[in-house]
Amino acid sequence: MRKVKDFYYQKAKKDKYPARSIYKLEEVQKKYHFLRRGDAVLDLGCCPGSWSLYASEVVGESGLVVGVDLQETATSARPGGALIQWIVADIMDPELVLQLRRIRPAFKVLLSDLAPKTTGNRWADHQQSLNLVRQTLDMTEILLHDKGHFLCKAFQGEDFPAFVGEVQARFEQVQVIKPKSSRTESREVFVLGLGFRKGRGGLVEDGQESGAGEAIAGVEA
Ligand SMILES: C[S@@+](CC[C@H](N)C(=O)[O-])C[C@H]1O[C@@H](n2cnc3c(N)ncnc32)[C@H](O)[C@@H]1O
Repeated sequence: MRKVKDFYYQKAKKDKYPARSIYKLEEVQKKYHFLRRGDAVLDLGCCPGSWSLYASEVVGESGLVVGVDLQETATSARPGGALIQWIVADIMDPELVLQLRRIRPAFKVLLSDLAPKTTGNRWADHQQSLNLVRQTLDMTEILLHDKGHFLCKAFQGEDFPAFVGEVQARFEQVQVIKPKSSRTESREVFVLGLGFRKGRGGLVEDGQESGAGEAIAGVEA
């Protein structure tokens, strides 16, 4: 296990990314190609900046990346990459959505690698993580383009299937992914929603709340 951690840590250092988490996003991107040149990308929980930096490189100079975090991020975009605009804010602050809409009325991709401060209490940590991801999912309603894409980190636990159901209700295709660079002992997984069905407000076509069974069946180990 230690070897896996060291491998991605060393690789991030060599590739000049500020965190090993870059390789989780890279793996999802290489499989699903959901970030495209010219896209405007919103990255919630961006510090120290490796996801934003990678997204900037993929979307290129014609794109834009806006990163939001409680902490200040000091990473700079690389030549040929999209401009990265950093915002220090709490994603729970209702003013943030207004500030983001002044930058872009809508984004093509919303990323969230948000992680709460863990307490060691598994249930409390799971609920705290769900509060954050539910907030990001609510933000898609206002900030994501129709047909846009959403990738978020979530921690598995008893209410995780319900959350996946909420994502399924809003997106055409949903995948639950455990990237190779994610530590096997970690309960984190990534939920990818492709093809946002804007204005669906959490309900599927026939007006029923969707269940999470299908997505859970599609978990990729
Ligand atoms: C795992 S780190 C993100 C790493 C980042 N994706 C990267 O690749 O460099 C999670 C971040 O979520 C941020 N965070 C947690 N709660 C937040 C909140 N309520 N509002 C904004 N950021 C938050 C933390 O400050 C932390 O920097």
